[in-house]
Amino acid sequence: MQKKYAFEYELLEHAGLLPAADQNLLQAAIIATESAYAPYSNFKVGAAALLSTGQIIIGSNQESSSFPVGICAERTLLNSIGSQYPEATILSMAVSYDPLNKPSIEPISPCGMCRQSLLDFENRYHAPIKIILAGKSGPVMVLPSASNLLPFGFDGAILK
Ligand code: THU
Repeated sequence: MQKKYAFEYELLEHAGLLPAADQNLLQAAIIATESAYAPYSNFKVGAAALLSTGQIIIGSNQESSSFPVGICAERTLLNSIGSQYPEATILSMAVSYDPLNKPSIEPISPCGMCRQSLLDFENRYHAPIKIILAGKSGPVMVLPSASNLLPFGFDGAILK
């Protein structure tokens, strides 16, 4: 049997076309790049999440002299929300980046580990997390659910 997997997302020409709340969240992600610790890659990433409580929480990539120990902005943020706001859910997350001496004009694409972690949080919440991906300027991608980023991702339900 042939099957097809497809999903819809929005591609906006620039951030000014986002609803105000999403513009605000993306701006928080752009500002969050300033707290990145990325002396090895010089690729600063910022993420911002809007919680069900209305709070906006930020995270950034934190690298290590032992390279694999470093952690992406998205998982820094997810793990800190899981620890500090266990009762809240994440409604949406924006991610942006600031590479040294290079333009930041295309949407960023989260790595595979972060996609799995995002999916895990959606499964915990039993609710989708809207994902907003952009550079410091230029087009913006909006995905209705993190699960769109990881088709057939691992679901911990199988462990029970
Ligand atoms: N990085 C993130 O923080 N998020 C992404 O979505 C992609 C990559 C970080 C990891 C590393 O510190 C640097 O960017 C270069 O890979």
